Amino acid sequence: MTSTPTPDAARPPDGLAVVLGGTGGVGAALVAQLQAQGVEVLALGRRTQPALDYTGEASVAACAQHVADRLAQSGLPLQRLIVATGFLHGHTASGQRAEPERSWQHLNTDALQHSFLINAIGPALVMRHFLPLLPTQGRCVAAFLSARVGSIGDNRLGGWYGYRASKAALNQLVHTAAIELARRNRQALCVALHPGTVDTALSQPFAKTGLEVRPPATAAQELLQVIDTLPEGSNGGFFDHHGTSVPW
Ligand SMILES: NC(=O)c1ccc[n+]([C@@H]2O[C@H](COP(=O)([O-])OP(=O)(O)OC[C@H]3O[C@@H](n4cnc5c(N)ncnc54)[C@H](OP(=O)(O)O)[C@@H]3O)[C@@H](O)[C@H]2O)c1
Repeated sequence: MTSTPTPDAARPPDGLAVVLGGTGGVGAALVAQLQAQGVEVLALGRRTQPALDYTGEASVAACAQHVADRLAQSGLPLQRLIVATGFLHGHTASGQRAEPERSWQHLNTDALQHSFLINAIGPALVMRHFLPLLPTQGRCVAAFLSARVGSIGDNRLGGWYGYRASKAALNQLVHTAAIELARRNRQALCVALHPGTVDTALSQPFAKTGLEVRPPATAAQELLQVIDTLPEGSNGGFFDHHGTSVPW
């Protein structure tokens, strides 16, 4: 006699999962993990069609419309929205190089503007265009990848001004959006997540010995476990990859 597998009680029924920045280090691993679980997943990034690029709001709106069309065609609810975009170092929108600041002497307008654009303003535009696509009933999760270094209470080392400040701004945006989201669906969750230190292009130049650097696949597995088991009352919170609260 064959037995029907018992569904994992903690896991929500699968709808569509959308990973923004699904072509980045952690984002691509999240997409692969969701696909391996048999979840229907849509990955959007700067090189996908349509492209998601925070340097233009129209691209965020076009991606949201693409997702809305997919939801309408498939009849699936948007169960998981994961925002895995972020910027720590590299070229800014104006083509200049930006590195994390070690001192206030390194602060400059261009790098700060770009950090805020990618880490806070872009995700805010995602809130505007994507959160209305979440179902108005039943459990669904919007998870924004933040960083523990965005915690003001946990900042003991200093440095990395732009990244820290823009992630702190993201955390405030997430908490604020969570309050609004709860008014339309009391079971919806909007959270900020710290993925831990993960071996990606973002962290690679700064991976110090002694720091626990994990492969993207491990981080993705842990993050999805957290996303799928966040308890009631988690809305608006900031959690690490073990599901432990991070101080603001
Ligand atoms: N890696 C770590 O150790 C670590 C630690 C703490 C927090 N985090 C956070 O985890 C998240 C994922 O980071 P990661 O390590 O996967 O970094 P990553 O490999 O560098 O990926 C960054 C992502 O951001 C996207 N992005 C960059 N500029 C963009 C723009 N103008 N418009 C839209 N998207 C843009 C990239 O898009 P493309 O794919 O199109 O290039 C990519 O998908 C970030 O929020 C990061 O701050 C990472």
